[in-house]
Amino acid sequence: MAEVELTNISKTFEGAAHPVLHDISFAVKDTEFVSLLGPSGCGKTTLLRIIAGLEEQTSGKVTIAGNDMCRVAPRDRDMAFVFQNYALYPHFSVEDNISLGLRLRKIAKPEIEARVKATTEMLGLEGLLARKPRALSGGQRQRVALARALVRNPKVFLLDEPLSNLDAKLRDKTRGELRMLFKKVKGTVIYVTHDQIEAMTMSDKIVILQDGRIQQVGTPNEIYESPANIFVATFIGTPQMNILTNREIQAMGYALTGPKSGLEDFTCGIRPEDLDLSANPRQDWIEGTVDLCEPAGALTTLAISTAAGATLRCSTTLKWPPNQTRAWFSFKREHMHFFSSADGTRM
Ligand SMILES: Nc1ncnc2c1ncn2[C@@H]1O[C@H](COP(=O)(O)OP(=O)(O)OP(=O)(O)O)[C@@H](O)[C@H]1O
Ligand SMILES: [Mg+2]
Repeated sequence: MAEVELTNISKTFEGAAHPVLHDISFAVKDTEFVSLLGPSGCGKTTLLRIIAGLEEQTSGKVTIAGNDMCRVAPRDRDMAFVFQNYALYPHFSVEDNISLGLRLRKIAKPEIEARVKATTEMLGLEGLLARKPRALSGGQRQRVALARALVRNPKVFLLDEPLSNLDAKLRDKTRGELRMLFKKVKGTVIYVTHDQIEAMTMSDKIVILQDGRIQQVGTPNEIYESPANIFVATFIGTPQMNILTNREIQAMGYALTGPKSGLEDFTCGIRPEDLDLSANPRQDWIEGTVDLCEPAGALTTLAISTAAGATLRCSTTLKWPPNQTRAWFSFKREHMHFFSSADGTRM
Protein backbone atom coordinates (compact mmCIF):
# COMPACT_ATOMS: atom_id res chain seq x y z
CA MET A 1 0.00 0.00 0.00
CA ALA A 2 1.20 3.49 -0.75
CA GLU A 3 2.09 5.40 2.37
CA VAL A 4 1.11 8.73 0.86
CA GLU A 5 -1.13 9.09 -2.14
CA LEU A 6 -2.20 12.26 -3.89
CA THR A 7 -5.19 12.15 -6.20
CA ASN A 8 -6.03 15.05 -8.53
CA ILE A 9 -4.80 17.77 -6.17
CA SER A 10 -5.43 21.29 -7.43
CA LYS A 11 -4.92 24.54 -5.58
CA THR A 12 -6.01 28.10 -6.27
CA PHE A 13 -5.17 30.61 -3.54
CA GLU A 14 -8.05 32.80 -2.42
CA GLY A 15 -8.44 35.79 -4.70
CA ALA A 16 -5.90 34.43 -7.20
CA ALA A 17 -6.82 34.26 -10.86
CA HIS A 18 -4.94 31.05 -11.68
CA PRO A 19 -4.33 27.74 -9.95
CA VAL A 20 -0.79 27.16 -8.65
CA LEU A 21 -1.26 23.37 -8.73
CA HIS A 22 -3.07 21.48 -11.47
CA ASP A 23 -4.39 17.96 -11.05
CA ILE A 24 -1.41 16.46 -9.20
CA SER A 25 -1.48 12.68 -8.70
CA PHE A 26 1.30 10.38 -7.53
CA ALA A 27 1.97 7.80 -4.85
CA VAL A 28 4.82 7.40 -2.39
CA LYS A 29 5.36 3.86 -1.17
CA ASP A 30 6.30 2.88 2.34
CA THR A 31 10.04 3.65 2.96
CA GLU A 32 10.37 5.28 -0.45
CA PHE A 33 12.40 8.47 -0.92
CA VAL A 34 10.60 10.74 -3.39
CA SER A 35 11.81 14.15 -4.50
CA LEU A 36 9.65 16.99 -5.75
CA LEU A 37 11.91 18.79 -8.19
CA GLY A 38 11.27 21.96 -10.12
CA PRO A 39 12.24 25.60 -10.56
CA SER A 40 11.42 28.33 -8.07
CA GLY A 41 7.70 29.11 -7.88
CA CYS A 42 6.50 25.85 -9.48
CA GLY A 43 4.47 24.92 -6.38
CA LYS A 44 6.71 22.55 -4.41
CA THR A 45 6.24 24.16 -0.99
CA THR A 46 2.51 24.56 -1.54
CA LEU A 47 2.19 20.87 -2.38
CA LEU A 48 4.22 19.81 0.66
CA ARG A 49 2.09 22.03 2.91
CA ILE A 50 -1.06 20.41 1.51
CA ILE A 51 0.34 16.96 2.31
CA ALA A 52 1.13 18.15 5.85
CA GLY A 53 -2.34 19.65 6.26
CA LEU A 54 -0.99 23.18 6.72
CA GLU A 55 -2.71 24.33 3.55
CA GLU A 56 -6.02 23.15 2.15
CA GLN A 57 -6.29 21.92 -1.43
CA THR A 58 -9.04 23.38 -3.61
CA SER A 59 -9.86 19.90 -4.90
CA GLY A 60 -8.43 16.41 -4.78
CA LYS A 61 -7.48 13.99 -2.03
CA VAL A 62 -4.51 13.16 0.19
CA THR A 63 -4.43 9.71 1.77
CA ILE A 64 -1.89 8.41 4.24
CA ALA A 65 -1.69 4.65 4.77
CA GLY A 66 -5.03 4.44 2.96
CA ASN A 67 -6.83 6.95 5.18
CA ASP A 68 -8.34 10.11 3.73
CA MET A 69 -6.67 13.07 5.48
CA CYS A 70 -9.55 15.41 4.71
CA ARG A 71 -10.49 16.11 8.36
CA VAL A 72 -7.20 15.16 10.00
CA ALA A 73 -5.25 17.96 11.72
CA PRO A 74 -1.54 18.36 10.89
CA ARG A 75 -0.43 17.15 14.34
CA ASP A 76 -2.38 13.92 13.93
CA ARG A 77 -0.77 13.00 10.60
CA ASP A 78 2.42 11.51 12.12
CA MET A 79 4.60 13.54 9.80
CA ALA A 80 7.61 15.70 10.58
CA PHE A 81 8.01 18.83 8.51
CA VAL A 82 11.32 20.61 7.98
CA PHE A 83 10.46 24.06 6.72
CA GLN A 84 12.37 25.95 4.07
CA ASN A 85 12.80 28.80 6.60
CA TYR A 86 13.59 26.55 9.64
CA ALA A 87 10.99 28.08 12.05
CA LEU A 88 12.99 27.47 15.25
CA TYR A 89 11.84 28.75 18.65
CA PRO A 90 14.08 31.79 19.24
CA HIS A 91 14.02 31.67 23.06
CA PHE A 92 14.86 27.97 23.31
CA SER A 93 18.35 26.52 23.20
CA VAL A 94 19.32 24.22 20.36
CA GLU A 95 18.89 21.23 22.64
CA ASP A 96 15.40 22.33 23.72
CA ASN A 97 14.39 23.06 20.13
CA ILE A 98 15.38 19.54 19.18
CA SER A 99 13.88 17.74 22.17
CA LEU A 100 10.64 19.71 22.55
CA GLY A 101 8.56 17.44 20.33
CA LEU A 102 9.68 14.38 22.31
CA ARG A 103 9.01 16.02 25.68
CA LEU A 104 5.49 16.98 24.57
CA ARG A 105 4.92 13.34 23.67
CA LYS A 106 6.00 12.34 27.19
CA ILE A 107 8.87 10.17 26.05
CA ALA A 108 11.18 9.00 28.87
CA LYS A 109 14.13 11.27 29.60
CA PRO A 110 16.95 8.77 28.96
CA GLU A 111 15.36 7.90 25.62
CA ILE A 112 15.16 11.59 24.70
CA GLU A 113 18.79 12.11 25.68
CA ALA A 114 19.94 9.14 23.62
CA ARG A 115 18.02 10.21 20.54
CA VAL A 116 19.17 13.83 20.80
CA LYS A 117 22.77 12.68 21.24
CA ALA A 118 22.72 10.35 18.22
CA THR A 119 21.03 12.90 15.98
CA THR A 120 23.13 15.92 16.95
CA GLU A 121 26.31 13.91 16.53
CA MET A 122 25.28 12.88 13.07
CA LEU A 123 24.58 16.47 12.10
CA GLY A 124 27.68 17.92 13.76
CA LEU A 125 25.72 19.96 16.31
CA GLU A 126 27.25 18.58 19.54
CA GLY A 127 29.09 21.78 20.42
CA LEU A 128 26.07 24.01 19.88
CA LEU A 129 23.42 22.49 22.15
CA ALA A 130 23.35 25.37 24.66
CA ARG A 131 23.12 28.15 22.07
CA LYS A 132 20.03 30.08 21.01
CA PRO A 133 19.09 30.04 17.30
CA ARG A 134 20.08 33.69 16.79
CA ALA A 135 23.67 32.75 17.66
CA LEU A 136 23.81 30.21 14.81
CA SER A 137 24.67 30.53 11.14
CA GLY A 138 21.98 29.81 8.55
CA GLY A 139 23.45 26.38 7.86
CA GLN A 140 23.55 25.52 11.56
CA ARG A 141 19.92 26.56 12.00
CA GLN A 142 18.98 24.37 9.09
CA ARG A 143 20.70 21.41 10.73
CA VAL A 144 18.84 22.07 14.00
CA ALA A 145 15.55 22.03 12.07
CA LEU A 146 16.58 18.75 10.49
CA ALA A 147 17.57 17.29 13.86
CA ARG A 148 14.21 18.27 15.33
CA ALA A 149 12.42 16.23 12.65
CA LEU A 150 14.79 13.27 12.84
CA VAL A 151 14.51 12.74 16.62
CA ARG A 152 10.76 12.40 16.36
CA ASN A 153 11.02 9.31 14.17
CA PRO A 154 7.68 9.87 12.42
CA LYS A 155 6.07 7.72 9.73
CA VAL A 156 6.64 10.32 7.02
CA PHE A 157 9.24 13.05 6.67
CA LEU A 158 8.41 16.16 4.66
CA LEU A 159 11.56 18.11 3.94
CA ASP A 160 11.53 21.47 2.15
CA GLU A 161 15.00 22.22 0.72
CA PRO A 162 16.68 21.14 3.97
CA LEU A 163 20.23 21.52 2.66
CA SER A 164 19.93 24.79 0.75
CA ASN A 165 21.84 26.85 3.33
CA LEU A 166 24.75 24.45 3.82
CA ASP A 167 28.03 25.11 2.07
CA ALA A 168 28.89 22.83 -0.85
CA LYS A 169 31.12 20.49 1.12
CA LEU A 170 28.75 20.02 4.04
CA ARG A 171 25.86 19.60 1.62
CA ASP A 172 27.65 16.77 -0.18
CA LYS A 173 28.42 15.05 3.09
CA THR A 174 24.96 15.56 4.61
CA ARG A 175 23.27 14.40 1.39
CA GLY A 176 24.86 10.96 1.63
CA GLU A 177 24.36 10.74 5.38
CA LEU A 178 20.70 11.69 5.15
CA ARG A 179 20.12 9.07 2.52
CA MET A 180 21.70 6.37 4.70
CA LEU A 181 19.90 7.60 7.78
CA PHE A 182 16.47 7.44 6.15
CA LYS A 183 17.25 3.94 4.89
CA LYS A 184 18.24 2.91 8.41
CA VAL A 185 15.14 4.32 10.11
CA LYS A 186 13.02 3.05 7.17
CA GLY A 187 11.56 6.51 6.80
CA THR A 188 9.17 7.48 4.04
CA VAL A 189 10.45 10.77 2.68
CA ILE A 190 9.04 13.50 0.47
CA TYR A 191 11.90 15.83 -0.27
CA VAL A 192 11.54 19.20 -1.98
CA THR A 193 14.49 20.54 -3.92
CA HIS A 194 15.29 22.63 -6.96
CA ASP A 195 18.73 20.99 -7.12
CA GLN A 196 18.72 18.24 -9.73
CA ILE A 197 21.92 16.67 -8.39
CA GLU A 198 20.31 16.29 -4.97
CA ALA A 199 17.19 14.78 -6.52
CA MET A 200 19.18 12.44 -8.78
CA THR A 201 21.55 11.16 -6.09
CA MET A 202 19.11 10.76 -3.21
CA SER A 203 15.79 9.64 -4.67
CA ASP A 204 14.11 6.37 -5.44
CA LYS A 205 11.69 8.39 -7.53
CA ILE A 206 11.49 11.98 -8.75
CA VAL A 207 8.37 14.03 -9.46
CA ILE A 208 9.24 16.90 -11.80
CA LEU A 209 7.02 19.96 -11.62
CA GLN A 210 6.79 23.04 -13.77
CA ASP A 211 4.17 25.78 -13.38
CA GLY A 212 2.16 23.60 -11.01
CA ARG A 213 1.96 20.66 -13.41
CA ILE A 214 3.66 17.28 -13.25
CA GLN A 215 6.05 16.87 -16.16
CA GLN A 216 7.31 13.39 -15.34
CA VAL A 217 7.42 10.83 -12.53
CA GLY A 218 10.20 8.27 -12.67
CA THR A 219 13.40 6.87 -11.22
CA PRO A 220 16.50 9.03 -11.68
CA ASN A 221 17.66 6.73 -14.51
CA GLU A 222 14.32 6.76 -16.30
CA ILE A 223 14.24 10.53 -16.21
CA TYR A 224 17.82 10.87 -17.40
CA GLU A 225 17.48 8.29 -20.16
CA SER A 226 13.94 8.96 -21.35
CA PRO A 227 12.96 12.52 -20.49
CA ALA A 228 9.26 13.03 -21.22
CA ASN A 229 9.72 16.41 -22.86
CA ILE A 230 12.25 19.15 -23.65
CA PHE A 231 11.70 20.84 -20.28
CA VAL A 232 12.71 17.68 -18.37
CA ALA A 233 15.51 16.93 -20.84
CA THR A 234 17.15 20.30 -20.30
CA PHE A 235 16.37 20.51 -16.57
CA ILE A 236 18.16 17.24 -15.74
CA GLY A 237 21.86 16.90 -16.52
CA THR A 238 24.79 19.33 -16.39
CA PRO A 239 25.90 20.78 -18.68
CA GLN A 240 22.43 20.77 -20.11
CA MET A 241 21.33 18.72 -23.10
CA ASN A 242 21.95 20.24 -26.53
CA ILE A 243 18.71 20.92 -28.35
CA LEU A 244 18.90 21.18 -32.13
CA THR A 245 16.26 21.34 -34.80
CA ASN A 246 16.24 18.70 -37.47
CA ARG A 247 17.19 21.43 -39.95
CA GLU A 248 20.21 22.52 -37.91
CA ILE A 249 21.47 18.96 -37.88
CA GLN A 250 20.95 18.58 -41.62
CA ALA A 251 22.77 21.89 -42.18
CA MET A 252 25.82 20.32 -40.53
CA GLY A 253 25.77 17.76 -43.30
CA TYR A 254 24.57 15.06 -40.96
CA ALA A 255 22.00 12.74 -42.46
CA LEU A 256 19.33 11.95 -39.94
CA THR A 257 16.13 10.08 -40.16
CA GLY A 258 13.60 10.79 -37.50
CA PRO A 259 11.94 8.35 -35.18
CA LYS A 260 8.96 8.14 -37.52
CA SER A 261 9.52 8.19 -41.26
CA GLY A 262 7.93 11.10 -43.08
CA LEU A 263 8.06 13.33 -40.02
CA GLU A 264 10.25 16.27 -40.93
CA ASP A 265 9.79 18.66 -38.10
CA PHE A 266 11.24 17.22 -34.94
CA THR A 267 13.73 18.50 -32.42
CA CYS A 268 16.80 16.50 -31.41
CA GLY A 269 18.38 16.36 -28.01
CA ILE A 270 21.88 15.11 -27.39
CA ARG A 271 23.63 15.25 -24.05
CA PRO A 272 27.10 16.82 -23.96
CA GLU A 273 28.48 13.49 -22.70
CA ASP A 274 26.95 11.64 -25.68
CA LEU A 275 29.05 13.32 -28.36
CA ASP A 276 32.23 11.66 -29.62
CA LEU A 277 35.05 14.17 -29.81
CA SER A 278 38.45 14.35 -31.49
CA ALA A 279 41.20 16.96 -31.79
CA ASN A 280 42.05 15.52 -35.25
CA PRO A 281 39.98 15.32 -38.43
CA ARG A 282 37.87 12.18 -38.75
CA GLN A 283 35.99 11.07 -41.78
CA ASP A 284 32.28 11.94 -41.67
CA TRP A 285 32.63 13.81 -38.39
CA ILE A 286 31.50 17.42 -38.09
CA GLU A 287 34.13 20.13 -37.77
CA GLY A 288 33.69 23.03 -35.39
CA THR A 289 35.46 25.87 -33.59
CA VAL A 290 36.11 25.64 -29.88
CA ASP A 291 34.70 28.87 -28.40
CA LEU A 292 35.22 27.91 -24.78
CA CYS A 293 37.12 25.21 -22.94
CA GLU A 294 36.25 24.56 -19.29
CA PRO A 295 38.45 21.92 -17.63
CA ALA A 296 36.96 20.62 -14.39
CA GLY A 297 39.21 17.74 -13.40
CA ALA A 298 37.92 14.45 -14.71
CA LEU A 299 35.70 16.10 -17.32
CA THR A 300 36.30 19.02 -19.65
CA THR A 301 33.39 20.89 -21.23
CA LEU A 302 33.79 22.51 -24.62
CA ALA A 303 31.47 24.94 -26.37
CA ILE A 304 31.78 24.24 -30.08
CA SER A 305 30.24 26.24 -32.91
CA THR A 306 29.81 24.89 -36.39
CA ALA A 307 29.98 26.60 -39.80
CA ALA A 308 26.25 25.97 -40.08
CA GLY A 309 25.67 28.23 -37.08
CA ALA A 310 24.82 25.72 -34.36
CA THR A 311 26.50 25.80 -30.94
CA LEU A 312 26.92 22.63 -28.92
CA ARG A 313 28.30 21.73 -25.54
CA CYS A 314 30.44 18.66 -25.31
CA SER A 315 31.84 16.94 -22.18
CA THR A 316 34.91 14.83 -22.61
CA THR A 317 37.38 12.86 -20.54
CA LEU A 318 40.09 13.90 -23.04
CA LYS A 319 42.63 16.39 -21.69
CA TRP A 320 41.87 19.02 -24.32
CA PRO A 321 45.03 20.78 -25.61
CA PRO A 322 44.75 24.43 -24.43
CA ASN A 323 45.55 25.98 -27.83
CA GLN A 324 43.47 23.59 -29.91
CA THR A 325 40.68 25.60 -31.52
CA ARG A 326 39.42 23.02 -34.06
CA ALA A 327 37.38 20.07 -32.93
CA TRP A 328 35.64 17.19 -34.69
CA PHE A 329 32.63 15.53 -33.25
CA SER A 330 29.92 13.04 -34.08
CA PHE A 331 26.62 12.12 -32.51
CA LYS A 332 26.14 8.80 -30.82
CA ARG A 333 22.99 7.94 -32.74
CA GLU A 334 21.63 5.55 -30.11
CA HIS A 335 21.83 8.30 -27.47
CA MET A 336 19.86 10.89 -29.41
CA HIS A 337 16.46 11.99 -28.10
CA PHE A 338 13.64 13.12 -30.37
CA PHE A 339 10.92 15.56 -29.40
CA SER A 340 7.93 16.95 -31.23
CA SER A 341 8.69 20.47 -32.42
CA ALA A 342 5.02 21.28 -31.90
CA ASP A 343 4.74 20.65 -28.16
CA GLY A 344 8.14 19.39 -27.00
CA THR A 345 6.93 15.94 -25.98
CA ARG A 346 9.13 12.89 -26.46
CA MET A 347 8.55 10.94 -29.69
N1 LIG B 1 -0.24 32.14 0.49
C1 LIG B 1 -0.16 32.38 -0.81
N2 LIG B 1 -1.05 33.18 -1.44
C2 LIG B 1 -0.99 33.39 -2.77
N3 LIG B 1 -0.07 32.86 -3.59
C3 LIG B 1 0.85 32.05 -3.03
C4 LIG B 1 0.86 31.76 -1.63
N4 LIG B 1 1.89 30.93 -1.36
C5 LIG B 1 2.50 30.70 -2.56
N5 LIG B 1 1.89 31.37 -3.56
C6 LIG B 1 2.23 31.32 -5.00
O1 LIG B 1 2.16 29.98 -5.43
C7 LIG B 1 3.20 29.67 -6.34
C8 LIG B 1 3.99 28.48 -5.84
O2 LIG B 1 4.68 28.84 -4.67
P1 LIG B 1 5.57 27.81 -3.86
O3 LIG B 1 6.05 28.49 -2.63
O4 LIG B 1 4.79 26.56 -3.68
O5 LIG B 1 6.76 27.57 -4.88
P2 LIG B 1 8.11 26.72 -4.70
O6 LIG B 1 8.14 25.73 -5.83
O7 LIG B 1 8.20 26.18 -3.32
O8 LIG B 1 9.25 27.81 -4.97
P3 LIG B 1 10.72 27.99 -4.27
O9 LIG B 1 11.62 26.99 -4.95
O10 LIG B 1 11.08 29.40 -4.62
O11 LIG B 1 10.58 27.77 -2.80
C9 LIG B 1 4.02 30.94 -6.48
O12 LIG B 1 3.62 31.60 -7.64
C10 LIG B 1 3.67 31.73 -5.24
O13 LIG B 1 3.77 33.13 -5.49
MG1 LIG C 1 9.50 26.55 -1.74
